[in-house]
Amino acid sequence: MSPTPQFLPHIASMTGYLPGEQPRDSNTIKLNTNENPYPASPLVMGRLRAAIGEGLRRYPDAAATGIRQRLSALFNLPIEQFLVGNGSDELLNVAVRCFAGAGDRVAFACPSYPYYQKLIDLQAAQTITVEFGDDYQLPESLAKADAVLTFVANPNSPSGTATSSAKLDDIASQVGGILVVDEAYVDFSGTGALDLVRRHDNVIIMRTLSKSFSLAGMRIGFCAASAGVIAGMWKVKEHYNLNSLSQIAAEAALDDIGWMQTNAKRIISTRGRLVTSLRQLGFHIWDSEANFVLARAPSDNDAGRLYAKLKERGILVRYFPDDPRLTDCLRITIGTDNEIDRLLEELKRLL
Ligand SMILES: Cc1ncc(COP(=O)(O)O)c(C=O)c1O
Repeated sequence: MSPTPQFLPHIASMTGYLPGEQPRDSNTIKLNTNENPYPASPLVMGRLRAAIGEGLRRYPDAAATGIRQRLSALFNLPIEQFLVGNGSDELLNVAVRCFAGAGDRVAFACPSYPYYQKLIDLQAAQTITVEFGDDYQLPESLAKADAVLTFVANPNSPSGTATSSAKLDDIASQVGGILVVDEAYVDFSGTGALDLVRRHDNVIIMRTLSKSFSLAGMRIGFCAASAGVIAGMWKVKEHYNLNSLSQIAAEAALDDIGWMQTNAKRIISTRGRLVTSLRQLGFHIWDSEANFVLARAPSDNDAGRLYAKLKERGILVRYFPDDPRLTDCLRITIGTDNEIDRLLEELKRLL
């Protein structure tokens, strides 16, 4: 008989990350994983179609040079200060593997992006969480957590709330270790802390093309940091981490920034309308600077029931039954105006 596989104890004892549902049925109104309801730029589609051919037998550019050149021009930083990843999830993973070993302290304010916890568990590192208050302002104590690495999702998920760059600047000076600012939703907000990498060698800014650029399926993320930090992270990333088609899509998307900005504006405008309507229906909504809102159900309503009833009617939102802080809330991605109208109609019926 062959021996039972023995996982490392910290892997055996952890639970895996549970991604949001991706239903096969294309009729579902999908407001659960913060995707963009609008398609990517036609330039992306055109260049992808043209790229499907004989060239795919080759490995991609391991340095993703075309993307990094564009990022360098866009943000006015040397190309050595950018690293590109298979989604920003890969770069979050690389950052943790670079800086946090077994037993090291890694901090974040919660509730936030659940993947941080999984990455810490994978390293057998020590999780230091600081609870957000009900206003979701970043707790002062986060900077004093004595961590080798601190995550700040800005805007935060699931609350959508944002922290000013000035405050992040202070935190970067106070933390002893690395500060990762995860800006997955930054294009829907008035914030953006990329400039911090000009002043702080311990700051890594993470961004993604999954949300504002409508390219979640292509898995493209990037980060900016000091050249020294990027050179170290480079050693840890998988060498051909970004496939050739994703590189072509990212280059085209960055060549048509206006397309992304127009869609981001539409989403921000729909968000304003959704927030007003949900508040009229009695929901508590935190001020969101992202492409989703966190909605606390009116007091005599059960968020779990609303989630299930909406799902029965073909509308999928995100419900977090396992987090006691969030069991009375729904996280709703901003869809098209029509999708949001459908959602509001159903909610009116259900309440
Ligand atoms: C806060 C936050 N960071 C990072 C990610 C991952 O994005 P990507 O698709 O680039 O891996 C997400 C995805 O939902 C997110 O919510």
